[in-house]
Amino acid sequence: MRNFLITGGAGFIGANFTHYLLRNYTDIKVVVYDKLTYAGNLDNLLDVGDDPRYAFVQGDIADADSVAAAIRDHQIDTIVNFAAESHVDRSIMNPDAFVKTDVYGTYVLLEAARRFNLERYHQISTDEVYGHVPVGSSKETDPLEPRSPYAASKASADLMVNAYHITYGLPVTISRGSNNIGPYQYPEKVIPLFVTNAMDDVALPLYGDGLQMRDYQYVEDHCEGIDAVLRRGQIGEVYNIGTGSELRNIDMTHLLLDTLGKPYSLIQPVSDRPGHDRRYSLDVSKLKALGWQPRHTCAEAVVKTVRWYQANEWWWRKIKSGEHYRAFYQRLYAGREIRT
Ligand code: NAD
Ligand code: DAU
Repeated sequence: MRNFLITGGAGFIGANFTHYLLRNYTDIKVVVYDKLTYAGNLDNLLDVGDDPRYAFVQGDIADADSVAAAIRDHQIDTIVNFAAESHVDRSIMNPDAFVKTDVYGTYVLLEAARRFNLERYHQISTDEVYGHVPVGSSKETDPLEPRSPYAASKASADLMVNAYHITYGLPVTISRGSNNIGPYQYPEKVIPLFVTNAMDDVALPLYGDGLQMRDYQYVEDHCEGIDAVLRRGQIGEVYNIGTGSELRNIDMTHLLLDTLGKPYSLIQPVSDRPGHDRRYSLDVSKLKALGWQPRHTCAEAVVKTVRWYQANEWWWRKIKSGEHYRAFYQRLYAGREIRT
């Protein structure tokens, strides 16, 4: 594994993984392949732009010719697929792009990996494929019970990846991560949204009763986990990646406001997300057995993320002042306030 195609590498986790690879390995080439949707942002890759081991190709993972050209031109031996539509609320408003990219796009990449006899295809998946977990923690062998269009698209992709391994012997691995937070996360996701709103004294729209639980993991821990799967994971296997613990949204919000020194009165309860999964929880013992450990608790990850957004206003103010973001915000949040 020396020549990586990092699909979706201009997004949040893909960009962090690109940084991670270039920081930790010398004898590699990292080609970011990204459509540059609203979530793709070359600012996320500014500081690797001059690295001779890095290249960028703009392209759609659902475009077979363009994928083939990138693999051929750069002698790719490994695909790590981060490319996806990734926001649950957008999947509820418009599922179409989720099926096209997350399901069909994954199929196109698998076909390319088969045709070019690649050494490895790694699929970045999510804990959401297990569905709502009222008690206990999801193991990799648990049934997939996705409940949102986003989660269903990601689960479909996982099934297709597994089918390519069983049917064609494609050397695949899958990792299922919990909620990532950290540098370069688009401010539609709850933590960057709440931090940046709070910094401007704008209300924080907390869904429902705020008692939903998420395993908020620091993105670098996730990157180390993916690397552990690539280096030491078994072909054909699935690995969960997370801290293995959870925070309630209301507690996460209080911690975030305390870190910023802002009042709890900024919290604005709003109507709930349809089909909102109340809890995800991952059993991460399988990956720990490969020698990986998360370095941050959920709380440490939240505080570190708040500090990054405080220090990097240049990055998020550009996004939040743009027309696309403002229209999205209006469409999702207008008229949702619950009077308290
Ligand atoms: P993101 O939305 O920040 O980035 C997605 C990237 O994919 C963007 O750069 C976008 O331009 C690109 N993209 C979208 N459609 C494309 C297409 N058709 N062809 C090529 N590129 C395309 O997402 P993220 O939060 O970085 O998530 C990355 C991956 O990790 C996704 O597969 C997601 O399902 C998974 N995941 C995310 C989390 C999380 O908490 N964010 C947790 C677990 C798993
Ligand atoms: O669990 C992994 C998943 O985490 C990834 O697969 C997804 O790509 C990623 O977007 C994330 O999904 P969530 O739906 O959990 O993340 P989000 O940041 O959208 O929401 C986190 C929690 O915060 C969830 O319980 C909903 C709540 N929330 C979210 C938003 C956007 C709010 O209360 N208010 C909000 O405005």
